[in-house]
Amino acid sequence: MQDSSEYTEPTAFDASDLFNIEGRTAVITGAAHGLGLAIATAFVGAGAKVGLIDIDADALAGVEAMLNKRGQAVAHAVDVRDTDAVTAAVRAVASQFGGIDILVNDAAIFPSAPLADIDLDEVATALDINVVGYLRTVQAALPYLEASGRGRIINFGSVTFFLGNPDGLGAYIATKGAVVGLTRALAREVSPLGVTANVLAPGAFPTRAEFGLYEDPAAFDRSVIEKQSVKRRGSVSDIGATAIYLASDASAFVTGQTLLVDGGWTFN
Ligand SMILES: NC(=O)c1ccc[n+]([C@@H]2O[C@H](COP(=O)([O-])OP(=O)(O)OC[C@H]3O[C@@H](n4cnc5c(N)ncnc54)[C@H](O)[C@@H]3O)[C@@H](O)[C@H]2O)c1
Repeated sequence: MQDSSEYTEPTAFDASDLFNIEGRTAVITGAAHGLGLAIATAFVGAGAKVGLIDIDADALAGVEAMLNKRGQAVAHAVDVRDTDAVTAAVRAVASQFGGIDILVNDAAIFPSAPLADIDLDEVATALDINVVGYLRTVQAALPYLEASGRGRIINFGSVTFFLGNPDGLGAYIATKGAVVGLTRALAREVSPLGVTANVLAPGAFPTRAEFGLYEDPAAFDRSVIEKQSVKRRGSVSDIGATAIYLASDASAFVTGQTLLVDGGWTFN
């Protein structure tokens, strides 16, 4: 039997170093707007190089120009439903920046109609973008993520999957549930290869998707804050900071998880 009084506690490490993503390369889908743009901005601020993918070519070009003033960014205007275009874009980013360490799947659409009579083609399109689109980028990026030795996959979920509402967003909510399942299964497959896969699930964030949706934005703010444990609206820096954690060595032992960034609205 070993004598516990002889045990030396390990203290010779600096955990703050683990959050450094300087020099890493990330591919980010949905980077032209909202939370994808927030992550691209946060990553460039942290010294990472970013490959930006989005269907909105005009907005994406503006984001690329803005980020290139502060660091290194390259944009590929691609629809994530186009397998060949996604594969070509991911390869181009890898060859320009010397590999890929981080993949962020953010691109999504939000079809709105009751499940009882939603057009099934609309549901299929949402699945193609919000779920199959995430797998397309994974398949394209996986060889590079594996070669990185510290590969990270961050897939966007949503608090709505845990709540089952708001009303009328059933198809979207189903896609966000599928992202959780996809990521859990992916984590089993890729973690032994040195790649982690996690879901970043935001609560309600004031992005373009929310803008103009409510007649009384202040009343909506109050209704969100009332449900949260943290008594303020979430900000893009909350998402950027969480993404840096999930992209960095600090989260190397975290995989297959869904991290809710919702101010304590729901508990996982
Ligand atoms: N904003 C919120 O409150 C909130 C809450 C929970 C989850 N989320 C999730 O966060 C992510 C970003 O949401 P957001 O609020 O920033 O939305 P957003 O609409 O501002 O951004 C989505 C981006 O995806 C892009 N996109 C859509 N279809 C595409 C396609 N086929 N190919 C390539 N790009 C495409 C859009 O052009 C846009 O830039 C989504 O996955 C969403 O489900 C957002």
